[in-house]
Amino acid sequence: MTKHNESWGSRVGLVLAMAGNAVGLGNFLRFPVQAIQNGGGSFIIPYLICFLLMGLPLLFVEWSMGRFGGRFGHHSTPFILDSMSKQRFWKYIGVFGIFTNLAVAAYYCYLESWTLAYIYHSVVGTFSPMDQTQVSSFFDNYTDITTSTTGIPYEAVIFWLLCLFLNTYILSRGLSGGVEKVAKIGMPLLILFGIILAIKAVTLKAGSEGAINDGTVGLEFLWTPDLKSIWNPTVWLAAAGQIFFTLSVGMGSIQCYASYLRSRDDIALNAMSAGWMNEFVEVVLGGSIVISITVGYFGIEGMTNLVSQVGGLGLGFRTLPYLFQQWGPILAVVAGIFWFGLLFFAGITSSLAMGTPFMGFLRDEFGMSREKAAWSFGLFILILGAPAVFFFKQGVFDEFDYWAGTVSLVVFALFEIILFAWVFGMEKGWAEITSGADIKVPRIFKFIIKFITPLLLGAVFIGSLPGIWDKLTADTNGAVIFGRFLLLGVWIGVAVMVYIAYRKRVKEGRFTS
Ligand code: ALA
Repeated sequence: MTKHNESWGSRVGLVLAMAGNAVGLGNFLRFPVQAIQNGGGSFIIPYLICFLLMGLPLLFVEWSMGRFGGRFGHHSTPFILDSMSKQRFWKYIGVFGIFTNLAVAAYYCYLESWTLAYIYHSVVGTFSPMDQTQVSSFFDNYTDITTSTTGIPYEAVIFWLLCLFLNTYILSRGLSGGVEKVAKIGMPLLILFGIILAIKAVTLKAGSEGAINDGTVGLEFLWTPDLKSIWNPTVWLAAAGQIFFTLSVGMGSIQCYASYLRSRDDIALNAMSAGWMNEFVEVVLGGSIVISITVGYFGIEGMTNLVSQVGGLGLGFRTLPYLFQQWGPILAVVAGIFWFGLLFFAGITSSLAMGTPFMGFLRDEFGMSREKAAWSFGLFILILGAPAVFFFKQGVFDEFDYWAGTVSLVVFALFEIILFAWVFGMEKGWAEITSGADIKVPRIFKFIIKFITPLLLGAVFIGSLPGIWDKLTADTNGAVIFGRFLLLGVWIGVAVMVYIAYRKRVKEGRFTS
């Protein structure tokens, strides 16, 4: 099998693509809701501690695992993990690093496609004559595929197909010709749109444009540290879950991107840059926009009630498009384009990253061309995503998010930190992290990666078990059960492909490390 020769075009492009992988819909839609549900100032301390003790260490670990595996021509986690140990079962743990990307991409691309539709509706002024209830019902109508009356027939399906096509096409152009170009355009625009919206949000004045509070009241809610929930495990689990999802750690996409580095390329500074850029976008921009605007119009109690009524995605799609209308017809259109535009860029730079591990695997193991691998990914997401689209109301979308976007990340991260720190060995691991480093990585991270991160991850995993049990034993509908089995089937299917690839390697006398 020939090694496929894909590489990053420039360091700026790589960092922007990695930051784009992390910065996603989670930064703008998931973070504010987690912060609101977990008490604002009581959430932010556990969140920042989880970032320092789990997020950053895992970034170092995943970047170095990726670069290490890349040396042997591996671009997805099954054989990256395999190359780090003599025990052959690790490649099956690596299945998570393909599975999670496929399963998350399946519902994530649908969510991403809503942003395109909402840009369109912001431009044509669909929301301008609507009251709050009507804007909120528009979302229900839109996601009710068969009876939708939002304009274009089967609108949600059309935008979803368009979004899948865009992702697949860009992936088929490769890393430097596709992914990197999108990141170089998308990330600066996202930050620009985000800064403008955040300024508007925090400068909202009580009494003008219908606001009842200054925008800064929202900032106080998030930034006034509150120690009363510091020992509440639920808040810690939510904080850890948010860190995993937002940084895309425990997914397998970081390892894949890093596997295209050269062996002497820096990873320490790159990992730090991408990680901190994500935190800036999440905490500063993501936190300011949604929370300040919502508190500005509804107050803290009103916002908390609203979140419990409209759920996680509600603020972004049901509430903000209505609140933008309070700023006058022109600003409403501009704000709609900026908000849904930034969500789109955030989403696509993440979903592209979700495509690359499966593509890398198909290319490494089955010699597929880049184009063929990209279209295979697109087709797979079309099939796997269909239940999340058509049975959205029945809860399949949320089910995928729970198993793939929450549980799977923690399980994989726990295994990989054990592999890295205890099987591969911390001495070798530290040498990997620091080799070619453009900064001096504080030595404390050696201790953290060896002891603290695995312990915390173990605690998060054990802490999640009651929730997993409740989920499995709760009454649910047929569509959700079907979705669950489908995910299990995908995991098993990928494991079988890994087995076939392994047999093939043995037959061809190709070593995995
Ligand atoms: N890290 C990506 C996000 O936050 C998946 O949406």
